[in-house]
Amino acid sequence: MLNTLDELEKKAMLELPGATSEDALNELRTMYLGRKGVLTQMLRQISTVTAEERPLFGKRSNEIKESLSHAIYEALERLKSSRKDDVLLKETIDVTLPGRTVGRGHLHPVTRVSQEICRIFARMGFNVVEGPEVETDYYNFEALNIPKDHPARDMQDTFYVEENIVLRTHTSPVQIRTMEKMKPPVRILSPGRVYRPDSDVSHTPMFHQIEGLMVDRGVTFGDLKGTLTYFLKQIFGADIFLRFRPSFFPFTEPSAEVDIQCVMCGGKGCRVCGQSGWLEILGSGMVDPAVFENVGYDPEEVTGFAFGLGVERIAMLKYGISDIRLFFENDWRFLEQF
Ligand code: PHE
Repeated sequence: MLNTLDELEKKAMLELPGATSEDALNELRTMYLGRKGVLTQMLRQISTVTAEERPLFGKRSNEIKESLSHAIYEALERLKSSRKDDVLLKETIDVTLPGRTVGRGHLHPVTRVSQEICRIFARMGFNVVEGPEVETDYYNFEALNIPKDHPARDMQDTFYVEENIVLRTHTSPVQIRTMEKMKPPVRILSPGRVYRPDSDVSHTPMFHQIEGLMVDRGVTFGDLKGTLTYFLKQIFGADIFLRFRPSFFPFTEPSAEVDIQCVMCGGKGCRVCGQSGWLEILGSGMVDPAVFENVGYDPEEVTGFAFGLGVERIAMLKYGISDIRLFFENDWRFLEQF
């Protein structure tokens, strides 16, 4: 019996070098040391061993078990470390290569233009205030002299959230919110997102407006003209031609739209300006007395002007962009040009 044990050990040790993979080594372990393995089976036959031989038999089989499992363990470890060596050899890193720089981002062109506009008005003493984008019917329409069921509502297509709650169609509700909170003099500018259900090359359902409002004793249409002329010359250059054209808004009287001479064709007439040579750039007017009454200002005491402009429109003209949708597609090739 003891001889059989010695032979078993010899055989196993001879087979070991042939097991060159993890699978083969595991198989070898099961074959000799597993629950149904050769060595285990031999141990079960201990009862057939003579009483004198029994302690030695037990000792030897434990020794063999130890040495075999140790040898298999070592072989497995060697395999693992040689695999690591292979990986290290294959995946060499050239530490002398210069680092890759991460591209730096920048502000979106709409944000850039919006900030530029705010800076120009800040120089004239206008403060920036913001208002909610989800607005009540009252602030978006009624307080601005646009009653329910009045045809003037047709000027602005509207997203209704609920009855009497809308996504604001313009930044003009901020005028009302501001005047409700403070007494004249008022000089504010309000940039922000506005929403209308339109979509084509010059309209997106969300776009950005900037509202301006100035109220004080003795503010005249001359102040409106002077302020807007200064602003447009700052944005488009001192030699730009402007015209103030009579228009209508329910919350201003009189009202004017301001056009600039077409920046694409220089006034000769082209596709962008519809052959007219002029581009409409903003809406404006003297605050209607009815609006002052709605916020508790005395129209006999104060006067004021207001204006509203589309930021994308100004950015398009400034940079010569023909499709407003480009601003919102997040195409890196477009954005990186600014
Ligand atoms: N709120 C108007 C619009 O969106 C623009 C405007 C603002 C006109 C202020 C006059 C005065 O069309």
